[in-house]
Amino acid sequence: MSAAAQPAAAGALLSIKGLRTAYGKIIALKGIDLEVREGEIVALIGANGAGKSTLMMTIFGNPRAQSGRIVFDGEDITQIATHDIARRRIAQSPEGRRIFPRMSVLENLKMGTVAAPRSSDRDLERVLNLFPRLRERLTQRGGTLSGGEQQMLAIGRALMAHPRLLMLDEPSLGLAPLVARQIFEAIRELNRTDGVTVLLVEQNAFHALKLAHRGYVMVNGLITMTGSGHELLERPEIRAAYLEGGRH
Ligand SMILES: Nc1ncnc2c1ncn2[C@@H]1O[C@H](COP(=O)(O)OP(=O)(O)O)[C@@H](O)[C@H]1O
Ligand SMILES: [Mg+2]
Repeated sequence: MSAAAQPAAAGALLSIKGLRTAYGKIIALKGIDLEVREGEIVALIGANGAGKSTLMMTIFGNPRAQSGRIVFDGEDITQIATHDIARRRIAQSPEGRRIFPRMSVLENLKMGTVAAPRSSDRDLERVLNLFPRLRERLTQRGGTLSGGEQQMLAIGRALMAHPRLLMLDEPSLGLAPLVARQIFEAIRELNRTDGVTVLLVEQNAFHALKLAHRGYVMVNGLITMTGSGHELLERPEIRAAYLEGGRH
């Protein structure tokens, strides 16, 4: 698939223009342009501190954008409250998973429906079919799960909101390669069979770009490169910066 062959605005579910976000004097996003089309997996890669998490969190309304525009499904959501953003069925699995350790797996999953009036038992079934390990552990406390299972739970909780846009921040972080691969496979499956649109933030550039239809490279608060996942994987500068010695 060639990114250049597609018209820029066609089917854009999420469209970001000139986005700037600051933490006091630290300007974390310095004018980001990014687009996610319906049905795509878009990978956002870049080194630690590049601003990937800040971008994801700004889309979710916290922190607030200093300037620029975030348009979701044709509506400007730049200044609306986080719970209203969630109600538009944007869901996120934050970096570090942040599940509720003392709650059971089922209770954790139900937390994902709080801001989502449309979620149903079918969403629970979908999550449990995608991650059968969670079905076996519904009554177990979240904190007693393995790292990979906690990641499944964090993604599952986001999926309970029946999202139109699923944002995942570093889902492979800290996982053994085999477990990370299972997580990436689950994301692929979700996208292929349910058509879920995914914005995937990853330091694991190799797996993320292999999985993604398109990717963006972020350096120091700016997008420096974009293209199809395949194109980016082939670029020598990407290979040198993010892939050499990477987890193949
Ligand atoms: N809560 C915060 N307060 C102040 N600075 C922050 C905060 N969160 C992130 N930053 C800074 O913003 C920049 C981008 O961070 P982040 O978005 O976490 O990058 P990434 O997710 O790509 O590792 C970094 O310089 C980081 O130190
Ligand atoms: Mg981050």
